[in-house]
Amino acid sequence: MENLIHINVTDLLGKKHKIQAPSDMGLNLMEAIRANDMQIKATCGGMAMCASCHVVVCNSRALPAMSEDEEAMLDDAFLLDIPHSRLSCQLKLTPELDGLEVRLGEGTGE
Ligand code: FES
Repeated sequence: MENLIHINVTDLLGKKHKIQAPSDMGLNLMEAIRANDMQIKATCGGMAMCASCHVVVCNSRALPAMSEDEEAMLDDAFLLDIPHSRLSCQLKLTPELDGLEVRLGEGTGE
């Protein structure tokens, strides 16, 4: 499929998963992680209100800038000391994210 992208996700146990997802359906990274049968708490369902979907970006990719809501949520969760933390629910899957590597952050487990 032409619009599939690949993302490497390391779970909380250190296991690496290579997931694929379409980049043309408006999905976000949290939804792609769930769709690939990985556990991620994501308590608020993608509203940028819980930070239990946070991931640490492990390689450089041209990520979209954070919204004010995402930045405020990470700030409230005291996660900004991890310079590459992002809310996976706020990262829309686009072709630019192909090859992205992330690990699930603290607090994302059930
Ligand atoms: S699911 Fe709650 S902030 Fe992402």
